[in-house]
Amino acid sequence: MKLLLTLLNLLPLISAQLSGPVGPTTSRASKRTKVCNVLDYGGVASKTSDVGPPLTSAFAACKNGGTVYVPPGDFGISTFVSLTGGKSWALQLDGVIYRVGTGGGNMIFVGSTSDFEMYSSTSKGAIQGYGYTFHADGNYGSRILRLGKVSDFSVHDIALVDAGAFHLVMDTCTNGEIYNMIIRGGNEGGLDGIDIWGSNIHVHDVEVTNRDECVTVKSPASNMLIENIYCNWSGGCAMGSLGSDTAISNIHYRNIYSQNSNQMYMLKSRGGSGSVKNCTFESFIGHTNAYTLDLNADWSSQKEATGDGVLYQDITFRDWRGTCSNGVQRGPVNIVCPDKVPCTGLVVEDFAVWTEAGSSVVWKCANAYGSGACLKGGSGTGYAVVTSTISAAPSGYAAQKMPDDLTAGFALTASIPIPAVPTTFFPGATPASTLLGG
Ligand SMILES: *[C@@H]1O[C@H](CO)[C@@H](O)[C@H](O)[C@H]1NC(C)=O
Ligand SMILES: *[C@@H]1O[C@H](CO)[C@@H](O)[C@H](O)[C@H]1NC(C)=O
Repeated sequence: MKLLLTLLNLLPLISAQLSGPVGPTTSRASKRTKVCNVLDYGGVASKTSDVGPPLTSAFAACKNGGTVYVPPGDFGISTFVSLTGGKSWALQLDGVIYRVGTGGGNMIFVGSTSDFEMYSSTSKGAIQGYGYTFHADGNYGSRILRLGKVSDFSVHDIALVDAGAFHLVMDTCTNGEIYNMIIRGGNEGGLDGIDIWGSNIHVHDVEVTNRDECVTVKSPASNMLIENIYCNWSGGCAMGSLGSDTAISNIHYRNIYSQNSNQMYMLKSRGGSGSVKNCTFESFIGHTNAYTLDLNADWSSQKEATGDGVLYQDITFRDWRGTCSNGVQRGPVNIVCPDKVPCTGLVVEDFAVWTEAGSSVVWKCANAYGSGACLKGGSGTGYAVVTSTISAAPSGYAAQKMPDDLTAGFALTASIPIPAVPTTFFPGATPASTLLGG
């Protein structure tokens, strides 16, 4: 614990992007002085039971300073729960919760609380959403886990599998830490991995498989550090979709590995207003992705928002390597800024992404000022699309692969198995914390 506190205190020094300590302010041990085991509140260990009411009762008894405990074993949930209020409590999920109910909303919602920790002490706790039962019929179902207005918290050492819709959403949360997690969803859009907005959040050592957001920041957001992320067949990491009054600043992504994803990183908007400022995207490795660096302020999949466009300012993309699928069809640099609000202060440096098909790549820029790639220097009132074609492989583009990259997405018509939480998330990087389950 002492070591942990020391590390937490050091974080602001490690990255200027966080604005202070993250995570719960009291220890797991102190919260375990009162334990409310769902088995003592009517819970029955069975995949088809309903652990919903026992969870709600255990929470009522333990929400101020205690631990709500789901012991090892299988539990069903048909009554989805909303656990709001309380303070300094933990949800220790050592068992597996399987969706039984078919309602919408969130299987588990945690709201309006502080000093909160959700974890599995064995690293084997999981929530199985059985989303395939909806997806097979072309529908979406319930989301898995949502945190709203939670501060000083962590979520770690659990697997979230096959959500009917989103897997983990953090809405207006502050001082949070998310780590040692794996998310596995079906291979289609609308099944987001992690979506976050709020401030001072550290996400690290997470693996996501799906066909939509990997770890994505939405507005408003400030001071986030997102690192050691493995998008193992996904949509990819992104910022957006951004609309009117966008307010995003000081976001730092580093050590992001994406393979077979839609993009390595996308910033997406169409119309809108407000700004994205002072963000850094560094140490990215990609293989077989469709898009690579994609800033698209005219994204056709989005309905046009009110305003002349989002201002993108002081954004650096540094140390990107690897290969994309087809660097002519979808060039590795695509920076298309709003006509009326050109981007300023963009930097693309140490950028070495080559193509897996053909022997050239295209860079495309519009209304974008700064340095590197096809950006124009200085500032100005904008310019039409310019492209450059690069016909020699950049030196140093070859980048390591993760062992056992997924070679196909998960079916929408069959249950997705619950995976173990991995212990590697980026080539050569050691996770910051070992698994609690050893
Ligand atoms: C921009 O980010 C850097 C860290 O990368 C930080 O030191 C600096 O304070 C930020 N600038 C502003 C204006 O917030
Ligand atoms: C990527 O996903 C596949 C399929 O589940 C898995 O076998 C592989 O271990 C994953 N890669 C890593 C390094 O976790």
